[in-house]
Amino acid sequence: MCGISCYIGGEDAAPIVLRGLRNLEYRGYDSYGIAVKLSDKIEVKKSVGRISDSSLQLPKSNIAISHTRWATHGGVTEANAHPHLSCDEKLALVHNGIIENYTELKKELQAKGHKFRSETDTETAVHLIEEGVKGGKPLMEAVMEACRQIVGTFAFSVISVDEEKMVVARRGSPIAIGIGSKGDFFVGSDVTAFLHHTKKSVFLDDDQLAMIEKGEGIKYFDIKTGKEVEKKITEIEWDPAEAQKQGHKHFMLKEIMEQPIAIQKAIQGRIKDGLPCLEEIDSLEEFLKNTKRIVIVACGTALYAGWTSEYFLENALRLPVEIEYASEYRYRNPVVDDSVLTIAVSQSGETADTLAALRESKKRGSKVLAICNVMGSTIARESDAVIYNRAGPEIGVASTKAFTTQVSILLLVGLHIGLLQKKIDEAKVKEITSALQQLPEQVKEALAEKESIQEIAKKYYEKKNALFLGRGQNFPIALEGALKLKEISYLHAEGYAAAEMKHGPIALVDEETPSVFVVPKDRSYDKTLGNVEEIKARKGNVIAVSNKGASEIARIADDVIYIPTVREELIPIVAVVPLQLLAYYIADLRNCDIDKPRNLAKSVTVE
Ligand code: AGP
Repeated sequence: MCGISCYIGGEDAAPIVLRGLRNLEYRGYDSYGIAVKLSDKIEVKKSVGRISDSSLQLPKSNIAISHTRWATHGGVTEANAHPHLSCDEKLALVHNGIIENYTELKKELQAKGHKFRSETDTETAVHLIEEGVKGGKPLMEAVMEACRQIVGTFAFSVISVDEEKMVVARRGSPIAIGIGSKGDFFVGSDVTAFLHHTKKSVFLDDDQLAMIEKGEGIKYFDIKTGKEVEKKITEIEWDPAEAQKQGHKHFMLKEIMEQPIAIQKAIQGRIKDGLPCLEEIDSLEEFLKNTKRIVIVACGTALYAGWTSEYFLENALRLPVEIEYASEYRYRNPVVDDSVLTIAVSQSGETADTLAALRESKKRGSKVLAICNVMGSTIARESDAVIYNRAGPEIGVASTKAFTTQVSILLLVGLHIGLLQKKIDEAKVKEITSALQQLPEQVKEALAEKESIQEIAKKYYEKKNALFLGRGQNFPIALEGALKLKEISYLHAEGYAAAEMKHGPIALVDEETPSVFVVPKDRSYDKTLGNVEEIKARKGNVIAVSNKGASEIARIADDVIYIPTVREELIPIVAVVPLQLLAYYIADLRNCDIDKPRNLAKSVTVE
């Protein structure tokens, strides 16, 4: 939930880490700070609010750590902002994660005379390390010993005024180390912190530590055994420019407009001679042939992507498909065994609840397939196989291109399993993959409606509530549309199964509460028209997402947003696009902070 950006090498460190921090602000942005190592002291500057270079003048240094915060323990104050210092101010530390036993540790440290300056759990760690250093341990050993005493999750970066070193440690929170070309090193919560410097990255695994010595290089250790370990370097495929706005007003709009290319990349090389070609899951072939049930675990938009695919998977594979809120699944005692395929869907690959849920499935013998957008992410590395979205960095907190690429990949996975289990004939598969390959063009058609959607947004942006309704596979799309609107415009929006409205929620309908219907000309079209009539009869305004030529809905609805006609399996991917744009334009008219909505962060790495 927080962002860490650090540097050690021959360049002036402060500007480097600050630029990296700005790239990470989407991870959390209620306060920030930076510490630079000088010859005789560590200088720290912190501030509440957003990062701006002008407010932080720091002396030249070759070693710096910095942090942008999403508060978990302790209010949003300068004192609680990271970095945190040891009592003697010779050590500075930044942290992403939660120290669960900080209360006991803090009591022990205070009994030894340590003075705390903040309410955070994080500060405990720097005093714990100070204990080790005061006991004569070099920085690395002191950090290692402290990590062994900590219960909880961490990504630490620690520096000392007495050593030309930086120590990085990780358990449960992501951290990436960028390998510079001049013997310098970058540290980031994810690669967007340093991608403009280097595409070579090392990802620490849980309970691993890196010791970086200026001018001497880097070594990796296992925290539990203290033994040195080898780590491989990953070449990141993303282009640094992709992570910038490229002329769009917001990252979210850029990412909405990128969806045709993102879908094209997601399926590129994964369809050969009309059949799915998913080498990433070859290792699961025998398991997939015998899979009897599919459980999809995810959160938020990723969950709705899985929910959308349920309809196709169940219909095509004739297998039970369960959609599970990861945050609920992880605390139940799910009935899962080695006949169950668990699919973990996660853009960031770091969502704590989804990670915990997949671990629950693995413990019970299930094989886990991850669908992730971030290379080397924890969920990707802990799963038995992973298929990357290849959507490029998704910076806007509201997930858009990740959703449409997730649904596209899930469709391919379903077709692949269908062929393995001889549930679908090749001819049908080829029809669907052929339609999938035309999808980028059809998504472009859906995007071309953006001006008309902007006009519709002008009519409704001052409303306080909205309903999003659909039947069948359009129902999770309605849920996703509601989530988009509420998370970036702060309007209350509720997604609901259209047929369920008459069982209570229709009492909400009046002239002030517009209803958005996902009502394409598919198998539920006629029934959904009845639900539209029910809303209209109660003076509710109706915005319909439907196909050109759907004359009935055009007659009844107050506004219609048209989507291209595609095969039924692909409707959700084109139908979600107008809902993304509608939410975007309403939020823009309400002058909301679209890329960094209040109270949110891009990657929810806390429980
Ligand atoms: C979606 O717009 C939200 N930002 C949020 O619901 C998000 O989808 C959820 O936190 C899951 O994130 P993940 O895909 O990175 O696991």
